[in-house]
Amino acid sequence: MNILVTGGAGYIGSHTCVTLIEAGHTVIVIDNLCNSDIKTVDKVKKITKKDITFYQIDMTDEMAVNYVFSSHNIDSVIHFAGLKAVSESVEKPLSYYYNNVVSTMIVSKACHKHNVKKIIFSSSATVYGKQKVPFIETMNLLPTTNPYGETKAMSERILTDLTKANPEFSVTLLRYFNPVGAHESRLIGEVSNGIPHNLMPFITQVANGKLERLHIFGNDYPTIDGTGVRDYIHVLDLAEGHVAALNKLTPGVHIYNLGTGRGTSVLQLVNAFEEANCIKIPYEIVDRRPGDIAECYADASKAQRELGWTAKRGLVDMCRDAWQFEMNYRE
Ligand code: NAD
Ligand code: WQD
Repeated sequence: MNILVTGGAGYIGSHTCVTLIEAGHTVIVIDNLCNSDIKTVDKVKKITKKDITFYQIDMTDEMAVNYVFSSHNIDSVIHFAGLKAVSESVEKPLSYYYNNVVSTMIVSKACHKHNVKKIIFSSSATVYGKQKVPFIETMNLLPTTNPYGETKAMSERILTDLTKANPEFSVTLLRYFNPVGAHESRLIGEVSNGIPHNLMPFITQVANGKLERLHIFGNDYPTIDGTGVRDYIHVLDLAEGHVAALNKLTPGVHIYNLGTGRGTSVLQLVNAFEEANCIKIPYEIVDRRPGDIAECYADASKAQRELGWTAKRGLVDMCRDAWQFEMNYRE
């Protein structure tokens, strides 16, 4: 199939391009490179030994997006393009609403116009807000405390309403938990410039000596050791989840959590990283980070049941691959 991958130069998009190509699909990538590098596309070509048609286009540019749809016989779209930094979304809400919601509107309109009826959308566990874990797809969406989460909930609604009005559309909303790790080639992975906001990139920056110590945001949560619990998932497992979803696209809206179903605390992740890579990670406990919840992990059984997909890689793989990529990238 010809798959249009928006945001395909980014972290999850690039890994998914590899997995899609390895599964025999042809990918066409749109990315404005606002948070990625064209070199990543070349690295995907290198890993797969296949060509990729790339367009440096902003997804809010409707004419340019329509041009791409008219130039290819697109079977399905996977819409990754979006801004994703939670704290930045609080500082710049209008940029986030504009970029993320308008992109979803434009990709939806283009699909409608060009008769492309299969769409997979990158949503996030953040739409669940603060509820009882594990998070299950049937839970109501709770208002999140940040504009980023709202853009995901709004995009889900836009795609759901589009499908209600056009029942022949097949829309799959994938709610990712915490993606970490990198491709085993060490060529692609999560690039973080500046001080990272997320835990794994922060740990790798401490491991390489760029940052002195990890600040652990609170150890008084009602969790196994008091630190926050999350569902870390290897980015390649996540990428494989997209191929599984693509193989099962049927008319209607389908929602799947992509997580492992296992919760890991900050201290457990730090220990796993230390063991996997034989590197000590100095840390100190600091105040809770505003907006954080104690626990977030998936009920991952629906994806297993309906897509036949389950995460295969463990914490050691995630920690090893994240570190291997970081070392290779900085060389
Ligand atoms: P990323 O920033 O690495 O990738 C997003 C890509 O989209 C980047 O290459 C960026 O340049 C591109 N982009 C952004 N706005 C664009 C626009 N208007 N037009 C064209 N390209 C644009 O992020 P990622 O981690 O790969 O995330 C991919 C998707 O998954 C995002 O929608 C994100 O919100 C979602 N998601 C990510 C996580 C996570 O923790 N990484 C978790 C849940 C959901
Ligand atoms: C994980 C745990 C922190 C950094 C975010 C978004 C979410 C999704 C994934 C896109 C928490 C603790 C972190 C640090 C720490 N993205 N921590 N010290 O907050 O679960 O999710 O990324 O959709 O929407 O909110 O991920 O990696 O920031 O934090 O102690 O320096 O690590 O408190 O318990 P989070 P994270």
